Amino acid sequence: MTPSTVARLLKQTTFQEVEIKGWVRTFRANRFIALNDGSTINNIQCVVDFENTDEAVLKRITTGAAVHITGNLVESQGKGQRVEIEVNTIEILGDSDPETYPIQPKKHTFEFLRENAHLRTRTNTFSAVMRLRSSLSFAVHKYFNENGFYYMHTPIITGSDAEGAGEMFRVSTLDQKNPPLTESGDIDHTQNFFGKDTNLTVSGQLEAETYAMSLGKVYTFGPTFRAENSNTSRHLSEFWMIEPEVAFMDLAGNMDLAEDFMKSVINHVLENNREDLEFLDKRQADEDKTKSQAERNELSLIEKLKFVTENNFKRVSYTEAIDILRNSKPNKKKKFKYRIDEWGADLQSEHERFLVEKHFKCPVILFDYPANIKAFYMRLNEDGKTVRAMDILFPGIGEIVGGSQREERLEVLKEKMAALNIPEEELWWYLDLRKYGTAVHSGFGLGFERLVMFMTGMSNIRDVIPYPRTPQNAEF
Ligand code: 4AD
Ligand code: MG
Repeated sequence: MTPSTVARLLKQTTFQEVEIKGWVRTFRANRFIALNDGSTINNIQCVVDFENTDEAVLKRITTGAAVHITGNLVESQGKGQRVEIEVNTIEILGDSDPETYPIQPKKHTFEFLRENAHLRTRTNTFSAVMRLRSSLSFAVHKYFNENGFYYMHTPIITGSDAEGAGEMFRVSTLDQKNPPLTESGDIDHTQNFFGKDTNLTVSGQLEAETYAMSLGKVYTFGPTFRAENSNTSRHLSEFWMIEPEVAFMDLAGNMDLAEDFMKSVINHVLENNREDLEFLDKRQADEDKTKSQAERNELSLIEKLKFVTENNFKRVSYTEAIDILRNSKPNKKKKFKYRIDEWGADLQSEHERFLVEKHFKCPVILFDYPANIKAFYMRLNEDGKTVRAMDILFPGIGEIVGGSQREERLEVLKEKMAALNIPEEELWWYLDLRKYGTAVHSGFGLGFERLVMFMTGMSNIRDVIPYPRTPQNAEF
C-alpha cells in the first residue's frame, strides 16, 4: 500500500484499509487526531483506539508531530465529517514539543506568524494562500502557452536600469572595505567580476522586447528587485513580475491582453481552488465582523472575484482622471494627503484607490500619462506631452499592472535618452531594435504578489510570498 493524501481520502468512496502520513493539528480526548498533510485545507479525523495503544505512544501524539497511520477508512460516526480513519497502527515519525511549538491550535496574529514564516504554512490561512499562489502561477503559464506566447528567462543580473528610477541592488565582488579606485577616485568597476557595474534587475522588459522583435509573443515571469525604501503593505524589495511583450501590438491591444489575461487566471482559480477560496472568503467575513461598517468589504471575496471577471474594466485617460480627482469631495475638503491641483501631477495610491473604490467601483485602466512622470521607453503621443502608458488599478490594491506601447522610433528614443542622461553605449542593443526592422510593440508588467493579495483577500503583501524581503528584513 502506498500512502494516500488527505485530499484523496476525503473524497474516497471505497471503504478499505488506507495509509497516510501527515502532521497532527490537534489531538482531542486521547482519541481524535485532526491530521493534515498540505494536500487540502481540510483535516482528516483519525480515531485512535486508546485502550489498545501504548501509553508512551499516546503521549507523543501532540500538535505538530509527524505521524504515519494505517487504518480503515469508514463512514464517520460523529458529525462534521463524512469519513474518518479507524487507526490500526500509528508510528511517530517526528516528535513535536508541545511546550515550545509556536503554532498552537488557536488564533495567532499575522505579525507573530511572519516571525515564524518557516512554520506558518501549517496554519489553514497560510496553507490556503500558498496553494492559491501555486495555482495562480500555473494559470499564468497555462494562459500564455494556450495563446501562443514563448516563455523567456530574462537575466537576473544586468547592467541597465530599465525603469530609470535608480532603485537597484548592486552586484559586486569587490573588496568592500578597500575597493580598487580609478585615478579620479571612483570605484574601478573594470576590476569587478563582470568588468562593469552590475545590479539585480528591476524588470525583464528591455530584454523581453528583444525577443518579442523576433519571436513575436513572449513573456517573462521571474523575480525582480527594487531597493526602494517603501515600508508599505504593497511593496516588497524582491517580488515576482509577469511581463508579456508583443510585436505589432498597440496600446489598445495591450489593454485587451491584460484584461483578458487577468480574467482568465482569476477564473482558473475560481474553478480549481474552491475549498481554499471558500475558507478565505469566510476568513474575510469573520474579520469584517470585527471592523466598523465603513471599513467592511462591500462584497465577499468570491463575489469580488466574480465581479472582476464578469465586468469590463473601465478605460479612462489620465486627463479625465485628473478632472474627476480635482473636482472630487476629498480633494475639495483637503482629505487627500497630496492635493490634486494641476494636470501633470503624479497619482498617489490614495488617488488611485479613490478612482477605483469610490468613483468607478470597478477595475480601471488609466492611459496616456504625462511623459515626464513615466519611463523613458514609452511611446510619445502626437500631442508631444503624453505617452502611451497604461496602469491598471484594482480595488483594495491600487496599481497592479504598469505597461505601455514602446517608443519604436530611433530618433525620438535617442532624444528621450539624451534628455534623461541615459548613455547610448549602455543600451546600444536596445537601440538596435529600432535600427533593424523596428515596429510598433507593447507589453506590461503585473506584480504577481499584488494579484495574489487580490485573489486571497490578504491585506499585507508580506503574507502572500513565502519569505518576504523588505527594508531591514531578510530573515529565513
Ligand atoms: O509599473 P512597473 O514599475 O513597470 C515595469 O517594471 C515595466 N517595466 C513593466 C513592463 O511594462 N514590462 O511595475 C509593474 C508592476 C506594478 O504595477 C506592481 O504591480 C508591481 O509591478 N510592483 C511591485 N510589487 C511589489 N513590490 C514592489 N516594490 C513593486 N514595484 C512594482
Ligand atoms: Mg508602475
